[in-house]
Amino acid sequence: MRRVPFLAGNWKMHKGPKETKEFIVELFAAIAKDTSLKGFLKENKVELGIFPPFVSLETAGREIASADISLSLGAQNMHWEDSGAFTGEIAGKMLMEVGCKYVILGHSERRHIFGESDETIGKKMNKALEIGLKPVLCVGETLEERDEGITETVVKRQLEEALRSLREHENIKDNIVIAYEPVWAIGTGRKANDEDAQSVCAYIRKFIEERFGSTAAEGIRILYGGSVKPDNAKGLMEQKDIDGALIGGASLDVGSFLEISRNTIEALQ
Ligand code: PGA
Repeated sequence: MRRVPFLAGNWKMHKGPKETKEFIVELFAAIAKDTSLKGFLKENKVELGIFPPFVSLETAGREIASADISLSLGAQNMHWEDSGAFTGEIAGKMLMEVGCKYVILGHSERRHIFGESDETIGKKMNKALEIGLKPVLCVGETLEERDEGITETVVKRQLEEALRSLREHENIKDNIVIAYEPVWAIGTGRKANDEDAQSVCAYIRKFIEERFGSTAAEGIRILYGGSVKPDNAKGLMEQKDIDGALIGGASLDVGSFLEISRNTIEALQ
């Protein structure tokens, strides 16, 4: 059975509460007019999600709760404790309180600009799963690492560290999403070609199979991220191990976000 594709918009540091509300109103109005997409959403054949900045989450949560179209909500980061003296940080439980179902963990901008380590990402993974928040775990190599031919080694290390304390019986397939995002493809307009993206996603699935068994591997959703746009989405979604996309720039505009969604549906048919 085909896994339900997930199109997740990572808004990064864009859109405060006002713009967030405008986006959601516009998105729902456009979906309401699109019977095909509306049907797919209703039958859970595709999942759309947005990941706005922290201050916009409550507004987004409220808008989503009052609508009859399904849209998942997630945050872009969290702390690994429930509360405490951690100035400037946000706890996972607080995110759930405003309606978040997902949280992005280990995005390369967090790793490279803010110095997040595999170890802290592992702690956040454990906490998110403990409280019932679903992590979208990001992994991916830099350009130097790709040129050195160590993409799989890097991805394997990131997966091992992030998933270290999880056990086979934990419901990996429904509770974790993995996003393969080559660092050199993020925000650069330079998407990985479909075959290379597929090959790393297949490697990730094999890693999950060896570590957690075949049910986990067959069910877990693996997304590709890095310069996904309306014109390149279909080719990606046709790859057998790619189950959706983590979309940065192109998710900020309702038109392009929906075009990516429609192209994904087309790839499924
Ligand atoms: P991009 O960002 O689509 O703008 O390249 C993707 C991401 O960082 O998640």
